[in-house]
Amino acid sequence: MTEPVLDVHLTPEDAAHALRADVRAGLTANPKWVSPKWFYDATGSALFEDITRLPEYYPTRAEREVLADRAGEIAAATGAHSLVELGSGSSEKTRLLLSALREQGTLRQFVPQDVSVSALTEAAHAIMADYPGLRVHGVVGDFTQHLALLPGESPRLVAFLGGTIGNLIPEEREKFLRTVRDVLEPGEWLLLGTDLVKDEETLVRAYDDAQGVTAEFNRNVLKVLNREVGGDFDVNAFEHVALWNAECEWIEMRLRAKRAMTVTLAGLGLTVEFKEGEELRTEVSAKFREDGVRRELEDGGFSLHGWWTDAEKRFAVSLARAV
Ligand code: AVJ
Repeated sequence: MTEPVLDVHLTPEDAAHALRADVRAGLTANPKWVSPKWFYDATGSALFEDITRLPEYYPTRAEREVLADRAGEIAAATGAHSLVELGSGSSEKTRLLLSALREQGTLRQFVPQDVSVSALTEAAHAIMADYPGLRVHGVVGDFTQHLALLPGESPRLVAFLGGTIGNLIPEEREKFLRTVRDVLEPGEWLLLGTDLVKDEETLVRAYDDAQGVTAEFNRNVLKVLNREVGGDFDVNAFEHVALWNAECEWIEMRLRAKRAMTVTLAGLGLTVEFKEGEELRTEVSAKFREDGVRRELEDGGFSLHGWWTDAEKRFAVSLARAV
């Protein structure tokens, strides 16, 4: 089998540098924060895969239902020659799109983008094995930084699935959508997955499951910091917190210090004090409404062409056209 082409815009050194700068900024801020970017080491990625199979975590199944129902329609509307997938991870739901594009005969190229070389290489090989003849051109990069360098034969369909756009705060989303729009030609496409606002109990449960997998996923970020910047976080001294911020319409994950402590990050020459009960914010996961998605897409230079939800209206997939 031929090897996938891989463009590396983000080396492990770049990633380490970004992590250091980010951790310093977040842990010296008040209130303290850590970016959700750093959840996804090998352990964190495996824990996230476990989360997607939890009974309480509906977004993955709901999005898969939409894509299974609508992939043919999406393929027909776009006539895409290449599928570009941002933050592709395991590229599992992507197969629904690739298969539909292949069936209609327009698919030529798949461009998965991810921060992880290993995830990307694995996904690229799996896709190449199942779609013989498909050209796979992986891009190792950060979707907030390296979009201008996306390859792909026009017309392109850029997919950003899973609801990951919800990890960005509104200003970051605005910038992100404009950047995507700027790399596209008018008439090219964006497919966006967004989790929807719903009752608080369902939302909070999805981020605070009975088995404690999400809690472990959340605390794992402290292990990442211990390893990557020489930290001495006592991981078990923090408890998982998931809450619904009704004003911002997002879920927040936090880690609450069970006791006062001093944490040293030797690699940063930094000492950080935690008060008992102090919370470190590790993620926001915004939830959306149709009007808001439409407005954000329009502000970003797209027009909404299709809006589809699962039967229970828990999750939406939007198809937008670059104007
Ligand atoms: C992968 C960003 C879509 O926000 O729902 C899952 C990550 N965090 N459980 C999400 C996550 C806690 C997930 N995304």
